Amino acid sequence: MKTIIYYFTGTGNSLAAAKKIAAVLGDCEMVPVALLQNAPAEILPGADRVGIVCPVYDAGVPRIVAEFAGRLDLSRAGYTFAVVTMGGMGVSALHQLNAILTKVHGRKLDAAFAVKMPGNFPPVGKIAAPEKQQKILKSTDARLAEIARTIDKGLLVPPGFSPVSSLMRSFLYPPFYKNVHEMDKAFSVSDACTSCGTCTKVCPVGNITLVNKRPSWQHHCELCCACLHFCPVEAIQLHMMQGTAGRGRYRHPDLTAADMKAQRGEES
Ligand SMILES: Cc1cc2nc3c(=O)[nH]c(=O)nc-3n(C[C@H](O)[C@H](O)[C@H](O)COP(=O)(O)O)c2cc1C
Repeated sequence: MKTIIYYFTGTGNSLAAAKKIAAVLGDCEMVPVALLQNAPAEILPGADRVGIVCPVYDAGVPRIVAEFAGRLDLSRAGYTFAVVTMGGMGVSALHQLNAILTKVHGRKLDAAFAVKMPGNFPPVGKIAAPEKQQKILKSTDARLAEIARTIDKGLLVPPGFSPVSSLMRSFLYPPFYKNVHEMDKAFSVSDACTSCGTCTKVCPVGNITLVNKRPSWQHHCELCCACLHFCPVEAIQLHMMQGTAGRGRYRHPDLTAADMKAQRGEES
């Protein structure tokens, strides 16, 4: 059975999750959501089994994924699933996806999973030490293997329910969705910048250009923080809440800059 997995990632957790599931399912096409921004209004997947894999942002899904889900017609899919990766709490993102899919095309997810992976948002939580990251990733691997088997068997798995997550989404997500594109005004770059251009290459939505040899954010940001985490000299900071100076950087160990370019449909 053919499967299409639509994915979005900033630091590789969701891509790694999607790849692990794809390996078990076989005959699986991985499609970056970032590539579909300019696709025709309706997206009709040419596969019997269709999945969405993405991170949780402010207890919901990234704005680009919410917009994509609103254009995704799953009415002809045999089986649908979603996996959201999160640093701590995010089951409400699955309810958001179900609400969007049901409202637009009357078809909700057959199976929905929230998977804990290392957090990547230092303004809120310091990045975990490498040993802790490894421990989390080890248990993630076991959970993803179980999820892949569940999907392969075509089982029905409703999203869990977390009142706290739902409450958080109700007040955090609306302002996030409204303002996220402009939130890049909170990024800064220090004199440590070597003008290597890595930030411009890893941004999934092409939001960064070099101006006078320094990154310049163009206000269609998704706040995935790839620029922050990929900068080889930590010259980029994000000035929100507790900030990012000295609070660590994170990338899934399997993620490469080439993966991030592929997410934009570019070859390395
Ligand atoms: C802007 C932003 C907001 C986030 N909000 C949440 C959140 O509400 N709940 C949570 O558990 N994790 C949150 N996270 C952490 C990510 O969901 C988590 O680390 C995810 O696995 C990252 O996936 P990626 O590596 O595919 O980008 C947030 C991360 C970012 C960048």
